[in-house]
Amino acid sequence: MSLLGSAYRALGQRTLFALDAERAHEVTTPFLEALHRSPTLAQAMAPALPPLPVAAMGLTFPNPLGMAAGFDKAGRFYNGLGALGFGFVEVGTVTARPQPGNPRPRLFRLRADRALVNRMGFNNPGAAAVAEALAAEPPRGIVRGVNIGKSKVTPLEEAPADYAESARLLGPLADYLVVNVSSPNTPGLRSLQTTAALEPILDAVSRELAAGGRRVPLLVKIAPDLADADIDAIADLATARGLDGIVATNTTIARPASLRTPAAEVAAIGDGGLSGEPLRARALEVIARLRARLGPAMCLIGAGGIASADDARAAMAAGANLVQLYTAFIYGGPDLPAGIVRGLAAPRA
Ligand code: FNR
Repeated sequence: MSLLGSAYRALGQRTLFALDAERAHEVTTPFLEALHRSPTLAQAMAPALPPLPVAAMGLTFPNPLGMAAGFDKAGRFYNGLGALGFGFVEVGTVTARPQPGNPRPRLFRLRADRALVNRMGFNNPGAAAVAEALAAEPPRGIVRGVNIGKSKVTPLEEAPADYAESARLLGPLADYLVVNVSSPNTPGLRSLQTTAALEPILDAVSRELAAGGRRVPLLVKIAPDLADADIDAIADLATARGLDGIVATNTTIARPASLRTPAAEVAAIGDGGLSGEPLRARALEVIARLRARLGPAMCLIGAGGIASADDARAAMAAGANLVQLYTAFIYGGPDLPAGIVRGLAAPRA
């Protein structure tokens, strides 16, 4: 265990878990920001990891484990996350307009389930400010994806222009770009997952990326709550439009009966997307269904309840080329990514 990991185990997690979940995030991020800004510090702290390169979408990922969207919403510490062992970071979700997100509290732990519920609502400083942050700190040894969403103030029918504006500002700084139409916390957003709504968005975004003059792989991120027929329709659309990949999945609006957290406690939390272990089985199903429909060529980034090397292997066996996590990092702490990467490199028991 690293020094950082020991400190986290000894003092950090108990203290952090006594805090409101979003406050705990705010307390830990200055440390990641320091690693982000100082290559020397990052190098001193970085664990020695076996190379585990993955070629996908014309990019080379140093390893297949990424930090999922939502953790580094403003592009303030992706290199810090890289120093902990993540091979890639998906910055965002970023919207064209800056927005505060929903009122707090909006992030909740379900500790008995190693899960979270969030209704953040895309709090972020907006595409122009994030572009500035990304331009100031080039990625160091990681792949830097960017995830874009619709501004809350933009009506659904104007979504294509809103996504296009984010693509114009952020495409030039992204190794890959994800069109997020699957967060449950922006009213109506998930209705953009229909083929009819998604096509004009992808058209508008593709036009901006082409105008930027550099090839930027384009992906779409989907919800685990889609019916099978809708998953197939998105897979077919991705193939027809020559998308580079699909990120599966976002959080779920379902509250499975199998949750260990008492039902009254879950109900008191209210609306939001559930992530972590209770999402794992459904995310695996979606990954497998997409892979069967897509054939072997398209890139699939699997997310949902991944907390160990075995979970990552299971997602890759189901068809994911790359995997991401968020919730497990909250429960597992700073040593988790390096542990998973080492576990993936080790021969299976
Ligand atoms: C998320 N997630 C997310 N996804 C996204 O596309 N844009 C976002 O802004 C966010 N924000 C966000 C905030 C919080 C607090 C959480 C827990 C999650 C979803 C995330 O990227 C991922 O798809 C799911 O959480 C499933 O992975 P885990 O958390 O089970 O590993």
